Order: sequence, then C-alpha cells, then structure tokens
Amino acid sequence: MQISDVRDDIADELISREEIHGKIKEVAAQVSEDYKNTYPLLVAVLKGAVNTMAIFSQEVSIPVQIDFMTLSSYGAGTESSGKITVRQDLGCDVAGRDVLIVEDIIDSGLTLEWLVKELKSRGAASVEVFALLEKPARRIAEVDVKYKGFTIPDEFVVGFGLDYDEKYRNLDSIAVLKPEVYQA
Ligand code: IMP
Ligand code: MG
Repeated sequence: MQISDVRDDIADELISREEIHGKIKEVAAQVSEDYKNTYPLLVAVLKGAVNTMAIFSQEVSIPVQIDFMTLSSYGAGTESSGKITVRQDLGCDVAGRDVLIVEDIIDSGLTLEWLVKELKSRGAASVEVFALLEKPARRIAEVDVKYKGFTIPDEFVVGFGLDYDEKYRNLDSIAVLKPEVYQA
C-alpha cells in the first residue's frame, strides 16, 4: 500500500522549518526584552496561528499568559469580507493588559484590524502584533505590525498551521501546493 505524505503535494518550499524556527526565536528574544516588566497576554487566532504560538511561546523567556480566539469572516469564497464574528471568545478579561496578538499570516489585514480594535475597546492597555507571514500585495486594511516574520509574494501558501481545505496544517515548513491539488 502507498503511504501518503503531506510533502508529496508540494510544488515549492518557500520557507524551511529551520528558517521559521530561527525567525521565531529572534522575535521571541525581542519580545522577552520589550515586555520584561509586564505579564503580557499572548492571543492567537485559531486555528492557523497554533503552530506559531506553540514555538513562539516556548522561546519567550518571561512569564506570559496564553489565550485563544476563534473568529470567522463571512464573505464569498476565500476572500475575507471584514465582517467578523467571534465563534469562540477568550477565556479572560483583557482590561488593563498588555496584549500581543500572535498571527499566522496577514492577507487583507481585515481580521487583524477588527481584532486590534475589539481588544482596545475591551480596555487593553496596549495591543501589538506578531505576524509570521505578510502578503503586502493583498493588503486592504492598514494595521501596524510591530513584530514581523517573513514577507511573501502573492501566492496561496500552506503549512505551519496554514491550511488548504483543512489539510497541510501539519506540514513543518511554508510551501506552495502543486496546481493539480486544487483541481482534485
Ligand atoms: P485577512 O488578513 O483578514 O484577509 O485574513 C487572514 C487569514 O486568512 C489568515 O489568518 C489565514 O487564516 C487566512 N489566509 C490568508 N492567506 C492565506 C494563505 O495563503 N494560505 C492559507 N490561509 C490564508
Ligand atoms: Mg488566521
């Protein structure tokens, strides 16, 4: 029997596991320094940011609180509409907290723009963003991203938490799929 492997569907690896871990480690060192006198709340948006949060939180050396949120943006097809609803909320109060949002990728930026406003309206003392990936070509909303990972071209990517049809989140690198995968 042929055993399938998520790597079989990859056309091109854009960022390797080693590069991803190296960058996350760099950002984590900076964050540990910048937040050394506080007890920040790290917020990841499910499910895409889980892999980044897992590695990032272990590389941060200061005490942190970790929480998650599930958001959905309704729109036609794969485009984010900017109309966001909370499907699963945080388990804690953000009032007075220094919040650091940990995101997988910023595409249109609409999700993040909404989330930053929402957390500020709940009374967060500060809200900053770490995004592992950024696709500047598709940006609609202007969001200030203090901690940046990699800038990528306008291509659909999978891996390290990012999915296509819920698959490939478990791939340990960032990659572009073979075109035939989308035709299946
Ligand atoms: P936006 O910035 O509001 O458009 O939405 C960003 C979200 O869309 C990300 O958090 C991802 O979950 C998803 N997304 C955007 N681009 C990609 C991609 O290339 N591959 C997989 N998911 C993506
Ligand atoms: Mg996401």
